[in-house]
Amino acid sequence: MTQRVTVVPADRIGTINPNLYGHFSEHLGTCIYEGIWVGEDSAIPNQAGIRLDVVNALRRIHPPVLRWPGGNFADDYHWQDGIGPRDRRPTRLNLWWDAVEPNQFGTHEFITFCRMIGAQPYLCGNVGSGSPRELREWVEYCNYGGDTTLTRTRAANGSPEPFGVRYWGVGNENWAAGGSFEGGDYAVEYKRFATFLQDIGKVPLTLIACGAYGSDTSWTRSFFEKYTRTPFPGVPRLHGFGVHYYCGTAGNAIEYTTDQWYQLLAAGAEIEKVVTIQRAAMDAYDPQRKIGLIIDEWGAWHPTDEAHHRAHLWQQNTMRDALIAAQTLDTFNRHADKVVMSNIAQMINVLQSMILTDGPRMLTTPTYHVYDLYQAHQGGQALRLVCEGDMISYCNKQGEDAELAQLSGSASLKGDMLTISLVNASAEAGCTVALNCVGGELIVEGAQVLASGDIHAYNSFDAPDAVKPRALAVTPVGDAIELELPAASVARIQAKLA
Ligand code: AHR
Repeated sequence: MTQRVTVVPADRIGTINPNLYGHFSEHLGTCIYEGIWVGEDSAIPNQAGIRLDVVNALRRIHPPVLRWPGGNFADDYHWQDGIGPRDRRPTRLNLWWDAVEPNQFGTHEFITFCRMIGAQPYLCGNVGSGSPRELREWVEYCNYGGDTTLTRTRAANGSPEPFGVRYWGVGNENWAAGGSFEGGDYAVEYKRFATFLQDIGKVPLTLIACGAYGSDTSWTRSFFEKYTRTPFPGVPRLHGFGVHYYCGTAGNAIEYTTDQWYQLLAAGAEIEKVVTIQRAAMDAYDPQRKIGLIIDEWGAWHPTDEAHHRAHLWQQNTMRDALIAAQTLDTFNRHADKVVMSNIAQMINVLQSMILTDGPRMLTTPTYHVYDLYQAHQGGQALRLVCEGDMISYCNKQGEDAELAQLSGSASLKGDMLTISLVNASAEAGCTVALNCVGGELIVEGAQVLASGDIHAYNSFDAPDAVKPRALAVTPVGDAIELELPAASVARIQAKLA
């Protein structure tokens, strides 16, 4: 049966902040060491110690922003350990991730990497075991243009010009590894830290508080209750509230039943609820919506697959992960009036990665290909998209009958180019989609689909291109177009309106 999708150009949601397509990298497993940093003496082609195969692949998807150095690692990281001559940097215990931290990749290396891939840096500060002074000095080191002991040190370390870092996180998961705070107590800390985070350079700061996990609003409410209680409303500043949400535990990364395919997609689709509930909770304290909702950690977190285990939180990435990424990015697009940034966890070799490496070898994952297709949405005007499709029945984790919408997606307009992304969640059934636009005829400029006959398909080091997008045929039918969406697929259609 034909399923119907309608774009409503007059119903504009808001501008899709390019930062919705952001990333996250932590000193965890082989994300930084091996994934990014190989050192100048490595046989792996590199520039200033940073591997070039990874840089070249990332540049193609235009990562707008990159969060670093954690994650849990951030609240036990002291940035001064990571500056100065590399052979004199201290070796520390990486408390959370069972490793020794050599501090070869620090602030300068991170900024160099961001510049190479074209991303804005987002530094996550240490609240749990750090001090307001330490974080304020990191801002001075990075952003101040005047002559101080810290800026002289920066110049001596190779950067006379300030880095101009805009995005600053005030702690990470401070309800857990970031200090085990209660929401109200963290709000007090947030205000103390943020008071000293001033615009001391040419770039104004965007300050991001640690938000809640998932749909739990108790942290959100207790944080805002206390944050809003200051003698001067809006002081200290707060620009973003960073919520985290992971889905997982339905089979493992590569072995799952058809029901587990749906269970994970349904858990991923819960992000819609997370965003809706958190933004409503924020609206109660910030009715003018000056504070952005940020999802600065999200993705599929699978149980360890012992047979293929390589490093901490290393996991393969299949078509199932690609669909999780696509339906999540579609959700963020549909909430472009509130969500201002997201950072998928994590960029390389950890959790739902863009890239996996194996010594000198590298591959891009199905999730990378979704980011490649979806980059066309960056900076567009999000438009309402109505999907009238079938429901899929499956068995949930409790053994009960459950349902999931077969079709979902989002639409945006940039200049005169419409981009429509669609997900067919069915593991087994392709579908015919009639795509139309209220008030106009769609003239298709191009259509691509990411699909495989196998719902378990992934890219391996021996077959790195097993899963990649291909052209999708579309047929004009009157003012509408028709297309055949394969089972378990993600599509991008670009069209002009006549
Ligand atoms: O992304 C892995 C970990 O997940 C992060 O370090 C932490 O913030 C979260 O719990």
